[in-house]
Amino acid sequence: MCGIVGYFGSKQASPILVEGLSKLEYRGYDSAGIAIINEGHLKVTKCKGRLANLEAQLLEEPLMGNVGIGHTRWATHGKPSDENSHPHTNEKETISVVHNGIIENYIHLREWLMSKGYKFTSETDSEVIPHLIDFYYNGDIVDAVMKAITKMEGSYAIAVITSDEPDKLVAVRKDSPLIVGLGKDEFYVASDIPAVLNHTREVYLLEDKEFVVISSDGIKLLDAEGETINKEIFHVTWDAEAAEKGGYEHFMLKEIHEQPKAIRDTMTSRIVLGEPITLDDINITKEQIKNLNKIYIVACGTAYHAGVVGKYVIEKLARIPVELDIASEFKYRDPIMDKNTLMIVISQSGETADTMSALRLAKSKGARVIAVTNVVGSAASREADDVLYTWAGPEIAVASTKAYVTQLIAMYIIALFFAQSKETLSNEEIEEIKIAMMELPEKAEEVLKNKETVQKFTAKTYMHKDMFFIGRGLDYAVAMEGSLKLKEISYIHSDAYAAGELKHGPIALMEEGTIVIALATQEAVFDKTVSNIKEITTRGAKVFAFAPVGHTEIEKSVFSVTYIPKVMDILAPVISVIPLQLLSYYMAIQKGCDVDKPRNLAKSVTVE
Ligand code: M6R
Repeated sequence: MCGIVGYFGSKQASPILVEGLSKLEYRGYDSAGIAIINEGHLKVTKCKGRLANLEAQLLEEPLMGNVGIGHTRWATHGKPSDENSHPHTNEKETISVVHNGIIENYIHLREWLMSKGYKFTSETDSEVIPHLIDFYYNGDIVDAVMKAITKMEGSYAIAVITSDEPDKLVAVRKDSPLIVGLGKDEFYVASDIPAVLNHTREVYLLEDKEFVVISSDGIKLLDAEGETINKEIFHVTWDAEAAEKGGYEHFMLKEIHEQPKAIRDTMTSRIVLGEPITLDDINITKEQIKNLNKIYIVACGTAYHAGVVGKYVIEKLARIPVELDIASEFKYRDPIMDKNTLMIVISQSGETADTMSALRLAKSKGARVIAVTNVVGSAASREADDVLYTWAGPEIAVASTKAYVTQLIAMYIIALFFAQSKETLSNEEIEEIKIAMMELPEKAEEVLKNKETVQKFTAKTYMHKDMFFIGRGLDYAVAMEGSLKLKEISYIHSDAYAAGELKHGPIALMEEGTIVIALATQEAVFDKTVSNIKEITTRGAKVFAFAPVGHTEIEKSVFSVTYIPKVMDILAPVISVIPLQLLSYYMAIQKGCDVDKPRNLAKSVTVE
């Protein structure tokens, strides 16, 4: 959570920092601020609210200078307020720090610093950092930061400047992301690559406890002991344009439309007709796959919903038992794992703290970990044994859409890969699924062409306060995702139920006019789903169904039906989720909600 940036060069830092922060607002937008060194003095401007508020202040009172740091906040310790905004400074206002992460021992550090006479002006954990650095400062900011971090427990990516050494910028990370952008005689630091892409494609991806020291002498990378280290430059191949809205009103809508491409890209070179599935970054052997006693799939939110589908398809195709866990709950149940256990973590960002802590627990118990992630160089990709990248491209909207469908594709690929190794499916069966998968991008396009049908539906229903999503089997998995999407961006309360479970309680909620979205894409349970629909329509529910083309018999049982292209049952989630994403999007638009930045949410949740 939170985004940090830094600039060191000969240009005015302020506009560069603000532009960088605008690319990081997905990490939080409770407040924003920058600190700049100008003629040996440190100047800070910061305020509660969106980045636009900061921009307005800077317009009135510009900050001049060529070295600076910036922050966009997602509040954890201390409410969103001007005081709690970053950058934080020491009392003399000579040292300024931006921080992403949580200092877990901040209460202890705060008391200790207060006993030494330090005064605090915010409620944040982060404010201990400038004071701690001040405590150790003896004319060498690098040395002071190095000493300060030995006292800090928790997670951090920090960038530090001081007016006492105006030509220096120091940054370091632990368990929070940090990259360094390399320009021509200018340098950037940031929580994520999009923040620097307008300036450079050459970056260093810092590891835990690695420092970058930028000064007029150039750039130095140091380890925790202060020894110089060499790192490979990572060349970013994706386009800066890809991270922009590209003509759509919102990132979410753009990303929904990018799904056919994202599906295609994620399958490229992995799903090739007539050839066995080979996965470049997965080194697990056939023998190890055969010996697997269990797989855990662990993830959060939308990624967890992809895991629901993953469990279903891995068990069905590869016949390996799969347990599915919400990452934030995983460690509390003392999971049984050994070297023959595999954990698959799914995480768009690859930085989600809950998921990372589950990954680390699995590794500590000797299990092998595959990370399914969208971000190259993310923590999950670095710490897992194997990686399967979802090639969705940067996902900016807080509500995950294209990452979800690519996570589904990743689940199919893994299931087929294991089925191939264990020979639980014949080559013909595998080929049949591959052919069906290759048709998915085109079928997804078809759904997108009919988006007006969904749009019309939302015009009639957006004022409802509650809705329900129902389905059986994989339709239930998609119902959960549809319900989450609706809640997070339109703030309409919704629940997802397994259609067969309604009669065990939730049916009591059905009354005249209750809105129910019913998914009926699974041939194997189609009739049973229709029976469940009838049970609720007789109690007054207004059911809007999504069913495969050709199943016109459902029309008699529902208020309205939207037909979607027919695909193989196990692949249906990739197609059926799209109208639900559109539905949430148009509901949110009708209600005037901020689609890309829903309240209280952040894109990357890097706190537990
Ligand atoms: O980056 P991750 O995939 O690990 O993120 C997991 C969840 O925080 C994320 O999917 C969240 O639920 C989204 N807001 C859903 O749209």
